Amino acid sequence: MTRGVYTHQPVMLEEVLEALDPAPDACLLDATFGRGGHARALLARLGPQGRLLALDRDPEAIATARTLAAEDSRVTVAETAFADLARVVDACDLRGRINGILMDLGVSSPQLDDPARGFSFQHDGPLDMRMGEDVVESAADWIARASAEEMARVFRELGEERYARRIARAIATARSEAPISTTGRLADVVAAAHPAWERDRHPATRVFLAIRLHINGELEQATAGLAAAVDVLAPGGRLAVISFHSLEDRIVKRFLRDQERGDPVLRALPLPGDHSGAKLRRIGRARRPSADEVSANPRARSATLRVAERLAEAA
Ligand SMILES: C[S@@+](CC[C@H](N)C(=O)[O-])C[C@H]1O[C@@H](n2cnc3c(N)ncnc32)[C@H](O)[C@@H]1O
Repeated sequence: MTRGVYTHQPVMLEEVLEALDPAPDACLLDATFGRGGHARALLARLGPQGRLLALDRDPEAIATARTLAAEDSRVTVAETAFADLARVVDACDLRGRINGILMDLGVSSPQLDDPARGFSFQHDGPLDMRMGEDVVESAADWIARASAEEMARVFRELGEERYARRIARAIATARSEAPISTTGRLADVVAAAHPAWERDRHPATRVFLAIRLHINGELEQATAGLAAAVDVLAPGGRLAVISFHSLEDRIVKRFLRDQERGDPVLRALPLPGDHSGAKLRRIGRARRPSADEVSANPRARSATLRVAERLAEAA
């Protein structure tokens, strides 16, 4: 993976600060450090006793986090997928003592904008798309081995692509002529097979998103990461999650709702107190970025922020 200088503007920063509202001695966990935009702003709110655990699965993000940690002793860094966040928290002996967790899901601008990472159909580069070194199979390897049926399923389910089968068949034909190893070639094959180009959207947008979500297991990561986050939060601790597309947001929304409801059977028991097992209380409604933010940073346009607070254990 090549290193480059690419910036990332933190999305919904004021809203995240307001949601987590850390006390000076708070212990925070940024599960998706990226280039540390949110993390730096959170650190500015913490006093000398505060602490921030910074996680990312991307080695370039981790290199930035380590530079920050070398300057700021309140920062601890771990290169890991956030599905494993509980392991890091346990290693620091902080289970039940985390006061705020941020999950800013998806890819960062530096990942998208670096052609060598192979995420974007707008820049030609090797067809890679791996977010971190824990991801074994590149997009090119998956495209080379997946059956047309499997590709169609992924494009339909994860990309919500209407022409999934037609595009998958075109990819299978093209790869039998020559391997598809660059983003440019894949984008061309998809564009040629796509019968309904939309205005303002490259015809390969949904297919690229689907492949990225699939090879990085992003939806599974979100599900496991949310569950782990709830388990490590202190009572009253806050969880703030920013998602960037509907499938991801649906997972977050349902998870927070279910954690607030608890188990309806237990809830109905004729016993004093709450025995439902509910672990969270949602804070406010889903929030979207302001028009000003979207015009300054178009990548914020599809963001949704959801916030919840950890309840104390039921008696
Ligand atoms: C939208 S960016 C975060 C940007 C960051 N908040 C900032 O202000 O710079 C998402 C980051 O999450 C990381 N990421 C995505 N999925 C992850 C996962 N399952 N585990 C750990 N990190 C992940 C990506 O590598 C990327 O660096």
